[in-house]
Amino acid sequence: MEWIFPLRGILLWISLLCLFDIHVSGQNCRGKEPVIDPPALVVKYGGPATATCHTEYNADLIGWEATVGDTSKENTQQLVWSVASVTDWSLQSGITCYANSEYGQCLTLLPVTIYKMPENVDFVILNAGPLEEGHEYLLECEVQSVAPLIKLTDNLTVIWFRGVTELKRSGYSQFTINGDQSQNVTVRTNLSITASTEDHRASYSCAAHLDLDTAATIPDTRSNSILLEVLYKPRVLNSTGNTTVGVGDKLELSCTADANPSPSFQWKHNGLVLAGNNNNTLLIDSVTVDNEGVYECIIKNSQGQVSAKMDVKVEKKGNPVGIIIGVVLVVMVLVILGVVIYKKYF
Ligand SMILES: *[C@@H]1O[C@H](CO)[C@@H](O)[C@H](O)[C@H]1NC(C)=O
Ligand SMILES: *[C@@H]1O[C@H](CO)[C@@H](O)[C@H](O)[C@H]1NC(C)=O
Ligand SMILES: *[C@@H]1O[C@H](CO)[C@@H](O)[C@H](O)[C@H]1NC(C)=O
Repeated sequence: MEWIFPLRGILLWISLLCLFDIHVSGQNCRGKEPVIDPPALVVKYGGPATATCHTEYNADLIGWEATVGDTSKENTQQLVWSVASVTDWSLQSGITCYANSEYGQCLTLLPVTIYKMPENVDFVILNAGPLEEGHEYLLECEVQSVAPLIKLTDNLTVIWFRGVTELKRSGYSQFTINGDQSQNVTVRTNLSITASTEDHRASYSCAAHLDLDTAATIPDTRSNSILLEVLYKPRVLNSTGNTTVGVGDKLELSCTADANPSPSFQWKHNGLVLAGNNNNTLLIDSVTVDNEGVYECIIKNSQGQVSAKMDVKVEKKGNPVGIIIGVVLVVMVLVILGVVIYKKYF
């Protein structure tokens, strides 16, 4: 039977039908669909695309039906579809290869996914000024002009970073989408953090990650990064322990703390403020018994205060004059004893 290629309109109608299934055959196809290599295309927006359609028999006509790169050839077994720069998003509804032969008109659909790396990824903290420890803050990542956004498979994810450490990944269900999803869109997503001391001076950022069936993996697009400042109450790093000193000795007590903003210090002795001592060290040049007792180092900043306590015991030392007199007395007794013994025997 001689099968003459029908009007273009009919073919268009058939290829429209094909959009709903990958392997829709022409009405009178007797099971000899053309084969497309590769069977699916993932192409970069603006990049080239090519696919080859072939039949295992000689076809009267092979043709490609597409919004760009339409072509057909008579009496052949294969035909290449090729576009130098893909900029037509509607190609994603698929392109069709048809083969007319003694087996009827047979069709195969080539699914096309167009991807586009984001124009920019913008990271912001939805809060002005320094953060406070223990409070919650919202971070926002905006991925501008990216494709594709595939709902079921999360092929676009946003990765959150603190320094080089990955904190979390956000997918389709966490996105706020702006734009036509069949093309490129701008996506916004948030992450909530509770500010901690670990976040102080940490550099936060986000990145857009496209996970597609491409020969080479697509590099992530990284955002700007923001150095956080977190205000937190002092914590004691180190302090003098309980000590014992002798009368007349030098006494030095100290405490160190980590705090932001940097803290002020105050010292108390038995509950009474030691006026004028606002350093992290307390120095007494010559200790007296009155200096005994409990000392407290109080460390304060805008976020709160902590204190470190230390007990000081003062020991009375022997009187040096008394010792000298004692020694002299002992020597004198020995000398007298010696004289007595000498006189008795000699
Ligand atoms: C999207 O991701 C899924 C799961 O990883 C993968 O099977 C699929 O091929 C991807 N889609 C494209 C167009 O690469
Ligand atoms: C210091 O002494 C006090 C009581 O005298 C005691 O409660 C505290 O545990 C001591 N601290 C250390 C570090 O030994
Ligand atoms: C605090 O101590 C340091 C050394 O311990 C000293 O150089 C400084 O002058 C002191 N500051 C005050 C205000 O006493």
